[in-house]
Amino acid sequence: MRLAWLTDIHLDFLSDEEIATFAARVAREAPDGVVVTGDISIAPELGPDLAKLVDAWRMPCWFVAGNHDYYGADVASVRRGMRELSRIEPKLRWLPSTGVVSLTPTTALVGVDGWADGRIGDGQGTSVVLNDHLRIRDLLQPSRAKLLEAARRLADEDARTLATLLGEALAPHEHVIVATHVPPFREASTHAGRIAGDDWLPWMTCHAIGETLRAMATDHPTRKITVLAGHTHDACRVSILPNLEVRTGAVEYGAPTVQEVFELGE
Ligand SMILES: [Fe+2]
Ligand SMILES: [Fe+2]
Repeated sequence: MRLAWLTDIHLDFLSDEEIATFAARVAREAPDGVVVTGDISIAPELGPDLAKLVDAWRMPCWFVAGNHDYYGADVASVRRGMRELSRIEPKLRWLPSTGVVSLTPTTALVGVDGWADGRIGDGQGTSVVLNDHLRIRDLLQPSRAKLLEAARRLADEDARTLATLLGEALAPHEHVIVATHVPPFREASTHAGRIAGDDWLPWMTCHAIGETLRAMATDHPTRKITVLAGHTHDACRVSILPNLEVRTGAVEYGAPTVQEVFELGE
């Protein structure tokens, strides 16, 4: 089983022709499936851009959404759209509503979007304001306190979904790949190879999902969890526990790449 990993492909920066060229480039890796860890496009273009990406593919495309995928909309309506897309286009599967994907008898794939939840670094005091806080309706809030509250609510909900999915996946599988957009640990949230500063970390980490991962990995010492994430656009590979590893992908806007192709044995 060959699984190709893409992240932060930001297709809204590409022309239709460039999307087709990139899709062909992915297909040349001859994957049996593709996983995309978010920031695929922006809300109004997400469905059409995903359709263009998979148009000539035969393999399934499992994906989670990143913060950019919600730009110009609210969370509930984007999620309704992704569920609908997964229903009508058999190659496209939004992972939170897909459940546990058995890639091989021993390896499973699960995923949740994840949200920067302001819990790591200086969430109260940071002067960093992201476009998220202006362009995603749920995060457009009158105060820092309300913003943190909204972000935490979203992150906690995804962490609960992940706990359920991981519980189901870890019982019959030795190895579970978790797709999520926002790095779940400080150690995995880097800029130019160094851990981000306390001003950026609140918006570059999802602590709620990190806590869930740590607990599940600790409870299942004979299982292995590999987390694939994006959002930082910086490559990082870090072991959090002996059986819990996180990888993030390096990306430039307008120049999407295949991060890795995993060869999964039986
Ligand atoms: Fe991104
Ligand atoms: Fe992002």
